[in-house]
Amino acid sequence: MPPLSFVDLQPSAGSFLEDVFSGLGVSPKALSPKYFYDALGSRLFEAICELPEYYPTRTELALTRDRAGEIAAAVGAGKLLIEFGSGAGIKTGLLLGALRPAAYVPVDIAADALKASAGRLAAEFPDLPVIAVCADYMQPLDLPLDGIAAPRLIYFPGSTIGNLTPAEALLFLQRARALAGSGGAMLVGVDLKKDPQRLHDAYNDAQGVTAEFNLNLLRRINRELAADFDLDRFRHVAFYNAVAGRIEMHLESVCAQTVTVSGRSFAFAAGERLHTENSCKYSVAEFQRLARSAGYDAEAVWVDAEELFSLHLLRG
Ligand code: AVI
Repeated sequence: MPPLSFVDLQPSAGSFLEDVFSGLGVSPKALSPKYFYDALGSRLFEAICELPEYYPTRTELALTRDRAGEIAAAVGAGKLLIEFGSGAGIKTGLLLGALRPAAYVPVDIAADALKASAGRLAAEFPDLPVIAVCADYMQPLDLPLDGIAAPRLIYFPGSTIGNLTPAEALLFLQRARALAGSGGAMLVGVDLKKDPQRLHDAYNDAQGVTAEFNLNLLRRINRELAADFDLDRFRHVAFYNAVAGRIEMHLESVCAQTVTVSGRSFAFAAGERLHTENSCKYSVAEFQRLARSAGYDAEAVWVDAEELFSLHLLRG
């Protein structure tokens, strides 16, 4: 049996309801993208990662594969590898093989995806202690790591950091630096600024999978919070906001309507949008500036030949 344990630090269901009430009660309406990832949302995200238009996942995977030796040489073996947002864990398999860490701690809010990927990796690396933690890693965390003395490497792939605003990302980087502690480091995947059309296409795929992923948030609210969103009365909207340097995803109400969530009513005007996600894009220099202002040294950066995606090694 692989040494795999599972720790549940999931926020209570009450916080989802509170966030929906407050997000629908303000103008403009907004919800956190962390709520995309119920079981179906996680599967839809995996399908997005396979889409021809969605370049980030396959680019980061190839970059990690091509540069695994260099990354391992820069990071060093025997680290306690803490991964935020482990998802399907394909890149992680590559990294675990190259890095040979002392222990692996994947942290994800999506319990089903976490269990599946942690189980797979524990089977693939039978000597590696794996402690899977189901938690919202965007919040301050008290991880069960007391017995593990190895220096820490925080791995945050997938450009999920782009789903935070730069101000939120700064706070997040500062907290991650404190968690990594002295001698700690962070390896973070960051999607790069590029041709706006390429970005637009990545979030408006021809098969409509990203639209389904976005709309599934309403399906989840219906199921978990006794709501009555009619999915045919909302449409997926995604565009590149060049001033803010980010893709924005919204759900637009196609008509004037009232929606009820757990007995509370919320009015939508025709054309009114619910902001569901930001996906910020950075140049290498912009991200290094952000990392430095969080107190890191920007030690190394790896970029693919097309300059689509970057992997930064930050030293705390
Ligand atoms: C998880 N995250 C980095 C993805 C992104 O590209 O911002 C989520 C996503 N949203 C739409 N497509 C993919």
